[in-house]
Amino acid sequence: MTYLVTENCIKCKYMDCVDVCPADCFYEGQNMLVIDPSECIHCGVCEPECPAEAIKPESAPGAERWLELNAKYALDWPNIAGKKEPPADGKSFDGMTGKFEKYFSPEPGL
Ligand code: F3S
Repeated sequence: MTYLVTENCIKCKYMDCVDVCPADCFYEGQNMLVIDPSECIHCGVCEPECPAEAIKPESAPGAERWLELNAKYALDWPNIAGKKEPPADGKSFDGMTGKFEKYFSPEPGL
């Protein structure tokens, strides 16, 4: 059972998850990270580290669309193995609804 990054990561992108992942399976987009489901070792250490509670197991309700999105963009985006500076305004997006429609970007992280 893989873990997945879900909607509330968008624009928050705190990146606390990255430093605890023993498998380096996070990939960076412009506004969010994803987990490569084929690399996730299902340890679960990232889930409680996310201040936005954006990391969910694939068994969570509604996780199917995020499984698809994580798998797709893990192939397109660069691997991130260490925490970077999160966006200065990230907290102001925490908990906002409709973030995918408003802010999701398919562009890779820098
Ligand atoms: Fe996103 Fe949470 Fe990681 S906001 S970057 S999944 S710590």
